[in-house]
Amino acid sequence: MKEQLIDELLTYFINENSKYGKITFPNNIDEKRKMLRGITNMRYPNYLDEKILKLEDKLLKIELEEKGIVDALSLKEVEKNIALFLGDITTLKADAIVNAGNSDGLGCFSPNHGCIDNAIHTYAGIRLRLECKEKLDNKKIPVGGIIVCKGYNLPCDYVITTVGPQICGEVTLNDEEALSNCYKNSLKYAVEHNFKTIVFPSISTGVFGYPIGKSKYVVYNTVKEFLKTNDIKVVFNLFSKGDYDEYKALFSN
Ligand code: AR6
Repeated sequence: MKEQLIDELLTYFINENSKYGKITFPNNIDEKRKMLRGITNMRYPNYLDEKILKLEDKLLKIELEEKGIVDALSLKEVEKNIALFLGDITTLKADAIVNAGNSDGLGCFSPNHGCIDNAIHTYAGIRLRLECKEKLDNKKIPVGGIIVCKGYNLPCDYVITTVGPQICGEVTLNDEEALSNCYKNSLKYAVEHNFKTIVFPSISTGVFGYPIGKSKYVVYNTVKEFLKTNDIKVVFNLFSKGDYDEYKALFSN
């Protein structure tokens, strides 16, 4: 079933774009899936027939079942209203997850890239990029700003895409403020819409080069300040044991 869906989708997307020329399908299902992911990563959000979107929904549903879902509400708190999670954000059930995107706001276009923007768009599905395009209407997301779309094939209800600061050289006060705004604006939107849970990745600390040893204090202070007057469960999602330990150290005293 899964392989058949991948074959159908691959055939469709290869035919959709003549620039791919004559492509030989790999024999192996993992290689085919990788090729499909790469092609959808590169696809500009032009109109797509609902029939194809439904095929993709079916595939992503199967893959989500294989990966398993973790409920953000079930995560143990390290402090009131704060929990940590080590793992993949695309497995988390929450009212909202935050995506560390770029100003174009359409997801990562590099095939099979390892950034969070790529993972979120891949597993939400093409519907997410289509909605982002509609919401943005050719505008950019400012650094520290947000746009909010549905979670589609992800277990979360909403994806809040924000843009962190890109670090060139030393971290400046402006960078700190911009990073803080990513968290503040996402939190503000979440409580205004009565969300009970929100999940943050470590914004800007990958491709955008913000050292996590510095960013974590900005993040911690911003979130703690917000939680003084607001009630929402905040999950910090780290993707490596090293990053997880950085955050864990904030809460061990
Ligand atoms: N789940 C949780 N965290 C993840 C996942 C995942 N599946 N994948 C990566 N991370 P980055 P940035 C962590 O580079 O630095 C994109 O191309 C990762 O380990 O994804 O804000 C955008 O389009 C790191 O700790 O985002 C922008 O152009 C954190 O997510 C640019 O990168 C953020 O790393 C944004 O750069």
